[in-house]
Amino acid sequence: MRIYLDHNATSPLVDTARAAMLEAADLVGNPSSIHGEGRAARSRLERARDAVGALIGVGGGESVVFTSGGTEADVAGIVGLGLAAQAAGAPARVVVLATDHPAVHGAAAALVARGFVAETLAVDGEGRVDLGDLGRCLAGGAAVVALAAVNHETGVVADVTAVAEAARRAGARVHVDAVQAAGRLPLAPIAAVADTLALSAHKLGGPAGIGALWIRPGVQLTPLTPGGHQEHGRRPGTENSIGAAGFAGTVSTLSTSGLEAVSELARRLERGVLAIEGGRVHGGGAPRVGNTVNVGFAGAPGESVVMSLDLEGVAASTGAACTSGSVQPSPVLLAMGLGRARAREGVRFSLGRGNTEAEIDRVIAILPGIVARVRAAGVG
Ligand SMILES: Cc1ncc(COP(=O)(O)O)c(C=O)c1O
Repeated sequence: MRIYLDHNATSPLVDTARAAMLEAADLVGNPSSIHGEGRAARSRLERARDAVGALIGVGGGESVVFTSGGTEADVAGIVGLGLAAQAAGAPARVVVLATDHPAVHGAAAALVARGFVAETLAVDGEGRVDLGDLGRCLAGGAAVVALAAVNHETGVVADVTAVAEAARRAGARVHVDAVQAAGRLPLAPIAAVADTLALSAHKLGGPAGIGALWIRPGVQLTPLTPGGHQEHGRRPGTENSIGAAGFAGTVSTLSTSGLEAVSELARRLERGVLAIEGGRVHGGGAPRVGNTVNVGFAGAPGESVVMSLDLEGVAASTGAACTSGSVQPSPVLLAMGLGRARAREGVRFSLGRGNTEAEIDRVIAILPGIVARVRAAGVG
């Protein structure tokens, strides 16, 4: 039996999502059509939208726009807010957090290509936002400030409220990437200080290829895609009804129950890591969500540890799924001040509700041998 500890990359499809998608797949009707089939499709889509709105804690779903995932939601939010604010007279500046996901950095780069200046907000050695660096980043004002509520590699929880309040005082709009926060933290306090918020279904037990951008009512966004009137012109194209049904299906069974047990397993794994000589936990001194454990073993490149774990039936990661497979040091660990060698040693275990104590104990049992073999091989 394989042991899956890569829930931050993608999590297994839950039964309620599968059932909702199968049901939706058998129905015909374009939500934009005015006949009965179309109207039924529209009402199913709106119910799915309401479910996502409920997850965010904003009541209904009127302000929820379905996207193809977290990446598109981040880009649509950051670039859309940035361009609209600039058109309204804000300075052409964008601020992102150093440890943000490539989707956020990519959105900032897209704004830079349109003449913006990007500022990178620093983090400390534990991955916490360096609030002292906010003054520098916001000195010239900004159109948009973006940050992830929960870091994808370390699970470190950002002080979104402090950043958002400072951003607002500087006249900037705020985009929050809540992709790794959803299902792990209440989203309402985050939405309360955000102008836009990004979600992705496949991190929550829903299907890949569907996400959502919540837009605070009244906030202007420049749409990135020209085309039809769907999603009130904010995201043209016939809606992904099956994906939306799957998203709503997973939301219907999300609850905070079970999170404590996942957290206890993660702490157990951490203790096992720290018992290995040269083992350390990245971001261990910062507030973190319970499921993510990012570790390193001095002298053992993360890639080799992850590959050896894989051979022994354990799926873990060196960091963001988008960057694993390359031997680059983790940009997140580099931003936290680790040297290049250490930043290549990161191994991310991200747990989910299905994991068991027996699985964690198996990982704890095989890790010392794996680390010793990788160190002895001396590849780096
Ligand atoms: C924090 C964060 N933002 C955005 C994304 C991108 O989401 P998606 O895979 O749905 O495009 C991810 C996925 O790893 C993520 O972890």
